[in-house]
Amino acid sequence: MAEQDLPATGREWHLAARPQGWPVASDFALVEAPVRQPGPGEITVRNAYLSVDPYMRARMNDVKSYAPPYALGAPMDGGAVGHVVASNAEGFRVGDAVQHWLGWREYATLDAAHAVKVDPELAPLSAYLGVLGMPGLTAYAGLLEVASFREGDTVFVSGAAGAVGSTVGQIARLKGAKRVIGSAGSAEKVATLVDDYGFDAAFNYKDGPVAELLDQAAPDGIDVYFDNVGGEHLEAAIGALRVHGRVTLCGAIAQYNDTSAPAAPRNLVLAIGKRLRLQGMLAGDHAALRDRFVEEVGGWLRDGSLRYDETVVEGVENTAEAFLGMLRGANIGKMVVQV
Ligand SMILES: NC(=O)c1ccc[n+]([C@@H]2O[C@H](COP(=O)([O-])OP(=O)(O)OC[C@H]3O[C@@H](n4cnc5c(N)ncnc54)[C@H](OP(=O)(O)O)[C@@H]3O)[C@@H](O)[C@H]2O)c1
Repeated sequence: MAEQDLPATGREWHLAARPQGWPVASDFALVEAPVRQPGPGEITVRNAYLSVDPYMRARMNDVKSYAPPYALGAPMDGGAVGHVVASNAEGFRVGDAVQHWLGWREYATLDAAHAVKVDPELAPLSAYLGVLGMPGLTAYAGLLEVASFREGDTVFVSGAAGAVGSTVGQIARLKGAKRVIGSAGSAEKVATLVDDYGFDAAFNYKDGPVAELLDQAAPDGIDVYFDNVGGEHLEAAIGALRVHGRVTLCGAIAQYNDTSAPAAPRNLVLAIGKRLRLQGMLAGDHAALRDRFVEEVGGWLRDGSLRYDETVVEGVENTAEAFLGMLRGANIGKMVVQV
């Protein structure tokens, strides 16, 4: 196949050092690298949006986990959406919009089997990294399947102004929750939860002990806790859960940068008498739900009953800063980088 018109080089991010505790800018390096022509069955994509996600922090540690650690001095990866600029694969044409996993870079050459075509007519491309992508599916599956949500449940979600949490709370409302409560890290985020997303109550977890704030927001207790945060939030939720309550253990962002073991929850023994169910989840286990999820959430987006926000950082050169900002809570809704 003839050489296709591609730039000689593009920029990509490498992990330069393994963070100790909170990551810093010098843990990352922006590198100019050759852009490879697509081989048989491959496509080259010019990325339009890159995803920065909390799970990437765990991949910066050299420990065995469900996702392999990033290698030092090698390109990082993650969710991305963009347009095909060269194709050597059947069924993919220049101009097609695709979602794939070679983010943290401007240009990606990959096996077309690892790319999924997305419809830019249905939603803006960036939405496929958030509300219609992995975080949206996490919210949908984590609430409806893992937590066995039932109409009339009182639901509490932490990290409620973020990509997963904002979707969890709204799905609970749309599916007939009795009461939806969220926690987030600023007064602005708390106002967004109530005014824009229709939460019944919300609090800023920095305003006092989480158990007290949750007790005020949910005086009759909760049936479901969707945990994005862990630690003190999980302890407060265990205290507030009613008999046969259910917890989706989705994330524990409060401890991702910790260098010592978490102090909470100290009250797990309550799970026995209350017959609680606490279940971990991984989005990847729920791929079979994807079509139903895109249809139902896509419908709510079209009729305006579900809203989503994005915090967009401009420029591939600001990807590491966007990641660090997300860890600090700089985002409302999904944090993405516009390349
Ligand atoms: N299990 C899975 O398959 C799966 C899939 C996707 C995501 N997750 C998990 O779901 C959670 C949310 O992910 P996301 O992509 O939607 O990210 P996100 O919520 O959009 O962004 C992360 C947010 O975490 C909050 N945060 C940071 N430190 C915190 C702390 N010490 N205490 C409380 N909140 C803190 C910040 O908001 P504030 O301003 O509110 O602090 C920040 O905006 C993460 O724990 C992630 O690991 C799990």
